[in-house]
Amino acid sequence: MLEAVELTKQFKQHKAVNGVNLFLEKGEIVGLLGPNGAGKSTTISMISTLIPPTSGDVRLHNESVIKHPERLRKVLGVVPQEIALYADLSAKENLQFFGKIHRLSGSVLQQKIEEVLEIVGLVDRQNDLVKHFSGGMKRRLNIGVALLHEPEFIIMDEPTVGIDPQSRNYILETVKRLNKEKKMTVLYTSHYMEEVEFLCDRIYIMDKGHIIVSGTKDEIKNILSAENTIQMKVERVNESFIEALHANPLINRVTVQDRSIMVLTPKEVNVFVDLFKLAEETKTVLTSVEIKTPTLEDVFLHLTGRALRD
Ligand SMILES: Nc1ncnc2c1ncn2[C@@H]1O[C@H](COP(=O)(O)OP(=O)(O)OP(=O)(O)O)[C@@H](O)[C@H]1O
Ligand SMILES: [Mg+2]
Repeated sequence: MLEAVELTKQFKQHKAVNGVNLFLEKGEIVGLLGPNGAGKSTTISMISTLIPPTSGDVRLHNESVIKHPERLRKVLGVVPQEIALYADLSAKENLQFFGKIHRLSGSVLQQKIEEVLEIVGLVDRQNDLVKHFSGGMKRRLNIGVALLHEPEFIIMDEPTVGIDPQSRNYILETVKRLNKEKKMTVLYTSHYMEEVEFLCDRIYIMDKGHIIVSGTKDEIKNILSAENTIQMKVERVNESFIEALHANPLINRVTVQDRSIMVLTPKEVNVFVDLFKLAEETKTVLTSVEIKTPTLEDVFLHLTGRALRD
């Protein structure tokens, strides 16, 4: 088991990570979800022993690895948020370079490179320079680098940011496959809740340096079991309608995204009559109204009053 205990990081005046407790049990895919600036990358950098914590501990099978990181580094692969590749080398040359850092060489390295290229789907492009790669291909190679030494644990920091949907799906499927076939334990960081919902057995949601909630998807969604999430689509968002929703005592929360308005209400109350009345009074045209099953995004909204994405 890999574990963070009361991890804290203070950058000058700013506490980026504040008492984070988190663990990865063998064979799990665990999600770390949070908005920009939540402290995800800082947490990951500490867990992977790239930066020292201000306080707290990182433990592998109950032994601290802060002073002796070698033991962890041997079994851990890290996919950094920023792409870390040599643009003027080919995919294969990058893998050769990083493989040597892991002290792989000769036919063992050759075989690992072939295997990794297969996993990340770059066999056909292995001799092309990375500078000619698409964003998605770079992301895939970035993952490949972390797989070279066959780690037991892999930590991925937002591996799908800024890429096309096809590459994104490929990466998500690859993560599932690595977990299933190679029994890799994964910590997957994202601010896309759909990804985390799709991939993860257990989830931590982080905000402003704290873990604000953790558990299985169902456990987390159950936080909202006493609430209904109602989604209204409108022709045009009308400020006076939004104000009236905010002022309504039956409504706990209101969020507006494009032409969609979401409200949270206690399950036992019927707010529909009010919604239609307020819409009429403020001359708002509703194009649809429906009760939604809560998502992780809704839970985040409920706990913080903000949307997960900016
Ligand atoms: N080296 C540093 N020095 C000072 N402040 C830092 C440093 N690294 C991160 N921070 C600050 O710590 C906070 C958390 O940053 P972090 O990168 O961990 O967030 P994140 O959750 O990974 O965000 P994102 O989703 O944007 O990647 C931010 O306010 C950031 O500005
Ligand atoms: Mg980050």
